[in-house]
Amino acid sequence: MTIRVLVNGAQGRMGQIAIQAISQQADFSLVGQTGRQDNLAHAIKQYHAQVVVDFTQPDAALQNTRTILDCGANPVIGTTGLLPEQIHTLQQHSKALRRGGIIAPNFSIAAVLMIKYAREIAHYYPHVEIIEMHHDGKLDSPSGTALYTAEQLATNLSAECLSTSKARETIPGARGASHHHVPIHAVRLPGLVAHQQIIFGGQGETLTLRHDAIDRQCFMGGIVLACRKVQGLTELVYGLECIMNKL
Ligand SMILES: NC(=O)c1ccc[n+]([C@@H]2O[C@H](COP(=O)([O-])OP(=O)(O)OC[C@H]3O[C@@H](n4cnc5c(N)ncnc54)[C@H](O)[C@@H]3O)[C@@H](O)[C@H]2O)c1
Repeated sequence: MTIRVLVNGAQGRMGQIAIQAISQQADFSLVGQTGRQDNLAHAIKQYHAQVVVDFTQPDAALQNTRTILDCGANPVIGTTGLLPEQIHTLQQHSKALRRGGIIAPNFSIAAVLMIKYAREIAHYYPHVEIIEMHHDGKLDSPSGTALYTAEQLATNLSAECLSTSKARETIPGARGASHHHVPIHAVRLPGLVAHQQIIFGGQGETLTLRHDAIDRQCFMGGIVLACRKVQGLTELVYGLECIMNKL
């Protein structure tokens, strides 16, 4: 039995490369490619799509995920920019329908490992900041990966350890944004793809974890894995590690 996959945002940078990766899998059948001009609900029904991969844009992700669930398919959402309360609402909706899916701010297995080990390091080195760097076409700042990293770090940071820098900002924003009290600095430049550093500071030392996506191929292993596993889920999970057995 092949899994019938539809890609939404098919003309975009991620959509194009996801289509290639999905087309190469013997157990997948790429049944549809949709974009801004298409009616997603209509396409899912017309092509009997079982799994829908979404790489569109932040302001479309909420409605697209809802549409996919309502049409009886399992969503694999790579689009970033969903707010925590929007993710929560979608999770409640998925639970009510008993239909699973995944929202993953980063489908790179190396990036997921970086976040996993950073969470461990935060036990010992609670002073931490994030610098994320992306191409200048990225619509959301900070990145979904940086927000997710801050959330994961915060689970291992006690209240008294959370960033308490007293530095006065001569220019507002100089110390970056703050998510769960973890400072995040966002760089946008042509020439970049997707990069992140997590810097821990201790007495007389620093420790830096860094991930560089230099080619969007790095996200394909995670996307293919998600398409294979998502039909077995009964809830909408957040983060690729939720479906990676060895993590
Ligand atoms: N999760 C991950 O691992 C990961 C990796 C890279 C990028 N991303 C995210 O994926 C998303 C897409 O990135 P990209 O670089 O491919 O962007 P892009 O701008 O190249 O492509 C987005 C495509 O979606 C289409 N689109 C916009 N709104 C739509 C809608 N409502 N319905 C259907 N199609 C619509 C656009 O026309 C465009 O073709 C971004 O949110 C980005 O941050 C996630």
